[in-house]
Amino acid sequence: MTKRQGEASAPALRTETAEDEDALRDWRHVHNVIVPPAAMSLDEVRERSRRYRLESAYLEDVLVGCSTVRPPEGEDRVATVIVRVLPAFRGRGIGTALYEKGLAHARGLGAGAVETVVLAANAEGLRFAEARGFVERERYVLDGESAEWIDLRLVPEGR
Ligand SMILES: CC(C)(COP(=O)(O)OP(=O)(O)OC[C@H]1O[C@@H](n2cnc3c(N)ncnc32)[C@H](O)[C@@H]1OP(=O)(O)O)[C@@H](O)C(=O)NCCC(=O)NCCS
Repeated sequence: MTKRQGEASAPALRTETAEDEDALRDWRHVHNVIVPPAAMSLDEVRERSRRYRLESAYLEDVLVGCSTVRPPEGEDRVATVIVRVLPAFRGRGIGTALYEKGLAHARGLGAGAVETVVLAANAEGLRFAEARGFVERERYVLDGESAEWIDLRLVPEGR
């Protein structure tokens, strides 16, 4: 299809694995804005980046979100996929795109099951996860914290 003159194209979503310092800082910024009870230092993010796949997401050069994929572990080979989108950029498909990418990555690592974690106060996140087939498994408060977390597991289609 030929593009009409003057027609603007939407900026494409781009993701980068948080490996260098700038990308680690971007990932940390989004994470700490969205889940303040679990705010992390740069050193903690650096340590996490060695164990998990952390990605930052951009519309052109504008930071819009981030994701975490924890690789499969345990007998059930459970992987965890968490996506976060800054409030100003929500409701236009970015979370879904990041989630699908994270899910594909987890499956590529041989995940037998997929879980996610949502802050209970985050109604939007809970609705998003449930709309994609995740079912609540557990609610808990971590030692020394007051925020409530919810673990959810993806129920395979057709069950
Ligand atoms: C959950 C979260 C990532 C969603 O991000 P998002 O970019 O708003 O996600 P999307 O835009 O893809 O989808 C949000 C809703 O908008 C709808 N939507 C998507 N594109 C749309 C469009 N172009 N126009 C209108 N609605 C649209 C989706 O259908 C979706 O509705 P649903 O959840 O009822 O299915 C975001 O709210 C967030 O960061 N929450 C806090 C972190 C969190 O709890 N993460 C855990 C979830 S794994």
